[in-house]
Amino acid sequence: MCGIVGYVGDASRTLDVLLGGLSNLEYRGYDSAGVAVGGDELHVEKRAGELDALEARLSDADVAFEGPVGVGHTRWSTHGPPTDANAHPHTDETGRVAVVHNGIVENYRALRDELEADGVTFGSETDTEVVPHLIARELRRGLDPETAIREAITRLEGSYALVVAVAGVDALFAARRDPPLVLGIGDGEYFVASDVPAFLEHTRDVVYLDDDEFVRLDHGGWTVTGTDGRRVEKDVRTVSWEAEQTGKSGYEHYMLKEIHEQPRSLRQCLSGRVDELGGRVVVDELDGLGTPASVQFVACGTSYHAALYGARLLRAGGIPATAHYAHEYATAPAPVTGEDLVIGLTQSGETADTLRALRKGAGRGAETLALTNVVGSTVTRECDHVIYLRAGPELGVAATKTFTSQLVGVNLLAAHLADGGGGRQRDLVSALRGLPDQVQAILDGSAASAVIEEFADSETFFFLGRGFDYPVALEGALKFKEITYEHAEGFAAGELKHGPLALVTADTPVFAVVTGDDEAARKTIGNVKEVEARDAPVVVVTDGVAEASRYADHVLKVPATDGRLAPLLANVQLQLVAYHMAAGLDRSIDKPRHLAKSVTVE
Ligand code: G6P
Repeated sequence: MCGIVGYVGDASRTLDVLLGGLSNLEYRGYDSAGVAVGGDELHVEKRAGELDALEARLSDADVAFEGPVGVGHTRWSTHGPPTDANAHPHTDETGRVAVVHNGIVENYRALRDELEADGVTFGSETDTEVVPHLIARELRRGLDPETAIREAITRLEGSYALVVAVAGVDALFAARRDPPLVLGIGDGEYFVASDVPAFLEHTRDVVYLDDDEFVRLDHGGWTVTGTDGRRVEKDVRTVSWEAEQTGKSGYEHYMLKEIHEQPRSLRQCLSGRVDELGGRVVVDELDGLGTPASVQFVACGTSYHAALYGARLLRAGGIPATAHYAHEYATAPAPVTGEDLVIGLTQSGETADTLRALRKGAGRGAETLALTNVVGSTVTRECDHVIYLRAGPELGVAATKTFTSQLVGVNLLAAHLADGGGGRQRDLVSALRGLPDQVQAILDGSAASAVIEEFADSETFFFLGRGFDYPVALEGALKFKEITYEHAEGFAAGELKHGPLALVTADTPVFAVVTGDDEAARKTIGNVKEVEARDAPVVVVTDGVAEASRYADHVLKVPATDGRLAPLLANVQLQLVAYHMAAGLDRSIDKPRHLAKSVTVE
C-alpha cells in the first residue's frame, strides 16, 4: 500500500533508478506518483494517474531532474482523492524538505491545526503533509537535519515508512513504524524502498529494517540507529530472487506470467520437503512444533480462502481448527492458551490486519506460525515459526501463484501436525509429486478462454463449491470480481437454496466446482441440477470423477488426483476464467481499480 523508493548515488542515474523502482512497485498503489530529485535544490514533480502520466510530465520538464539524491512514491489514497496536489512527495512551504510516506498519521488533524495556527499554509488534503512542515519548523529552530527529522517523528502517532530528502544535504533519512522498509546496498550507491523489487536490478544485498529504526544513507555508506540514537547492528542478506523474475518475460500481464509460473513455483515450494522414498513430508522449519490443542487461522482476501481450506484439512486430520478474517479476529480473538497455535496466512507478510490478529494471539500466549512468500517481511520477524512459500516475486495485484503455494503449504503443515504418517501421507506425497505437471497440463489445454466468450454480456456470475471445493469457489469469485469489475459471488453450494437461488436466472452463468466423488461432490451435483432447472448456463470445473459434466453446458476439465489437491487444480482453471474475461473486457488486469497488493493499513 503505497510504494516508496529512495536513492543516493550517481547524480545522472537518480531519476532512472527512481522511475524503474516505482514501476516495479506499482502493485502497491497506482493512483498517483511523484519524485523529488536534487542536491542543493530539490526538483519535485507529481501527477495523478499511473506512472506514465508522471513520466510524460517529466519528459516535458524544463529543469534537469539530476542530483545525487532522490525519492519517489506511488500512491494508494487514504486521505484525500488522487490529485496532483495530494500525490507525494510532499514538501514544506520553501521546498527545502521533501517527504514520501506509506502509512497513516493518525493525529494529523491535531498537528495540522497546530501548524496552521503557526501560520503554515497547506497545499494538500493528506495526512502526510504535516511531516515536512514539522521538519521545516525544527530546521528553522536551528536543529541539524537529522535531529530535526527525529524530533518531527516523535510527534507522529500511527504508522509510517518515511523517506526524507533535505536540499543541500547529500543524504537521505528514513524511518519505519509498521509499514515495511528495506535498504539496498550497492557499490557506492544505496537504495531504500518498500520492497526489494524496487532495486533488484541494481543489487541483491539487502537490510530489512525493524520498527522504530532510523536510517541515514549517504555516499559514505549507511547507518541504522534506534530511537535513542544508538547504532543498531544489522545483517546484510543476499536475496536469491533474480531481476528477470520481476519482469513480464514476454507475457502481456504479470498475472498471466504468474499463472504460468505455477508448475515452477509449486516445485520450489515442495523442494526438499517431501521424502518420496519414505512417503513422508519433511518440513524442517517445523522442527520443535508439536501437535497443538487447536489451530486458528487468521488471514484476509485470497489468503483467507487458503485459510478456510487449511482449517478443513486440519479438522480432517483430527485437529480442531477454524479460519477467521484477521480484521474480525483482531477485535474479538478466540480464547487461546500456550497449547494453541495461531497461523497467519499472508503472502506479503505485511498485511496490517493479519499482523494485528497474530499479535492478539501471541499476546494471549498462543504459539504463532506464518506462511508467507516474502523473506524478511514483518510477519517472519514476529512469529515463532515460519514456512516460506517460495513462489518467487508476485507482482500482479490479483494473487495466483501464491494462493496455490499456500494450498500446498497448508497440506505440508497438516501432514506434519495431524497425520503422523501412514497411507494418507504416502498418497499425499505421491499426488504432490505429480502436481506441477498436472498444472502444466491445464495451462497447455484449458478451454477457459473459449468458454467465457458467450458470457461477454452477462453482469452477474456465481461460483459454487462444497467441502474442499468451497474455498476455491470463493476464490474463483474473488479473482473474477477483482479484475473484471463484474458482479461475482461465491457460495457454499449447500447454501444456494437458502437465498442465493432467488438470483439465479438464464442470465447468470454459474461456475460449479465439483472434484472427487464423495458425498460433497454428489450433493453439489444436486445443486447444479437446481440451477440448471432455472435455466442458468452452467460451467462445471471438474476432474470428471463424479458425473457432473452431464448437467453442464460447458466443462473445464482438471486431471484426477488426491481429493485434497483436486481443488487446487480447479483453481487454476478459475484463474484463467477470470484472466480471459478481464482481458476480453480490456480491464487493467495487473492494477485493478481501488486495490493494492500489500495492504498495510487496517
Ligand atoms: C489485498 C490484496 C489481496 C490479498 C490480501 C491479503 O487485499 O489485494 O490480493 O489476498 O490483500 O494479502 P496477504 O499479503 O496478507 O496475503
